Amino acid sequence: MSEKFRPQVHFSPRRGWMNDPNGMVRVDGIWHLFFQHDPDSTRHGPMHWGHATSTDLVHWSEAPTALYPDKLGTCFSGSALETDAGGIELFYTAHSRTEAGEDHQVQCLVHADRGLDVFTPDPTNPVLPNPGYTAFRDPKVIWHAPTRRWIMLVTEGQRVGFYGSDDRRTWRHLSSFGEQHGRHSPGPWECPDLVPLQAPGGETFWVLIVGLNPGGYAPGSGTQYFVGQFDGTTFRNANPPATELWLDYGRDYYAAQTFFERGGTWAPTAIAWASNWLYAHQTDTEAFRGVMSLPRQLRLVETDAGLRVAASVPSGVLEAAFSTPQDGVWHRNMAVDLRPGEALQLTLFGEERPHFVIARHSAGRASIRTIRASRPGMDGFEHDYAIDIGWPATGALDVSLHVDRGLVELSAGHGLVWITNLFFPTHPEADMELTVREGADA
Ligand code: FRU
Repeated sequence: MSEKFRPQVHFSPRRGWMNDPNGMVRVDGIWHLFFQHDPDSTRHGPMHWGHATSTDLVHWSEAPTALYPDKLGTCFSGSALETDAGGIELFYTAHSRTEAGEDHQVQCLVHADRGLDVFTPDPTNPVLPNPGYTAFRDPKVIWHAPTRRWIMLVTEGQRVGFYGSDDRRTWRHLSSFGEQHGRHSPGPWECPDLVPLQAPGGETFWVLIVGLNPGGYAPGSGTQYFVGQFDGTTFRNANPPATELWLDYGRDYYAAQTFFERGGTWAPTAIAWASNWLYAHQTDTEAFRGVMSLPRQLRLVETDAGLRVAASVPSGVLEAAFSTPQDGVWHRNMAVDLRPGEALQLTLFGEERPHFVIARHSAGRASIRTIRASRPGMDGFEHDYAIDIGWPATGALDVSLHVDRGLVELSAGHGLVWITNLFFPTHPEADMELTVREGADA
């Protein structure tokens, strides 16, 4: 497992292709991560569900492939849950093509034992047939405690459909959300998720997470979110419809999903696929292709603009990931203290050009610029854009870097801003250089 760009503290499959995280569930203290997988190729092919388990969310051991294509189709993304009675169920999209060559997608249920070793399709599959959408996929099933029913979120083209059920076998359409809200593009709204989070004032809000590809914050795939209310039937956006919010401003953070944990003790914890459909097939690895982000716990914070999602890597995970020194694997917290007009350049991997520039423009205005050079054979890989951020009223700006063999996750402002980017440096093991510059935006 020692390829040059094989991450050491992020999950990547032993071999073959990987995209979205699927079926994330914690059972009997074990974290289960399933994933979109083609074990036989490093390209997106007939999708299976790969499977890995962990007790610390850092060291993963890969289990045998869990779901295989069958007569209903290949196995697209979905979720997993534990019932009150202790049953484990997986929901996925069976993807096939009609005779006319069009996508046909239906939702299926699979039963598993508590060890998640044996997978048995429900005899009534598909449990949710297709009502007429070309893109009808990525079932995320959650338990809505206030109305005591199961809710399935499904991509319906550029909307998220909400379906309700008491037995998880028969589903009824409740509502759909999305038209005129947030960012739209020619691509569908993929891999939805819905998590309750408590605002600092004590009130519970529901955060709806949606993948958008193409059309993200930066070119290609991106993960947006909405803060609102969900009454068991309808999601209502608490912000004006045009508000666009992003879980991550980088190029490589897509299809984020949170773990299901019955009687959960953890704050909702998300993992995303650290890649971008624009160039996912061209990344520079050999035995495998695809890597997951670090797990991030989500919380709501009050900002001048209203409630926003902030995320942080739990301290136990940081410890498990970064306390043992390894080449090209490091984590650093910095207190960045700049005067207006000053900028800090972060140059990674012993390269010439900076990869990030943190600039303070005025007392309260700042930005983080992210720069990535082009790479032969990788379409649309290069970028140079800046994200506006606020500057703290007192004290310095906190910035954290999590680096693993070229995969960089930068966070700032107590986790309000995240930038996840892949690099394929000549020297992934080289240290970072910091340079302070003065002058307009330095
Ligand atoms: C998102 C996605 C999902 C789909 C899966 C197929 O990256 O397009 O919508 O289920 O990938 O692998």
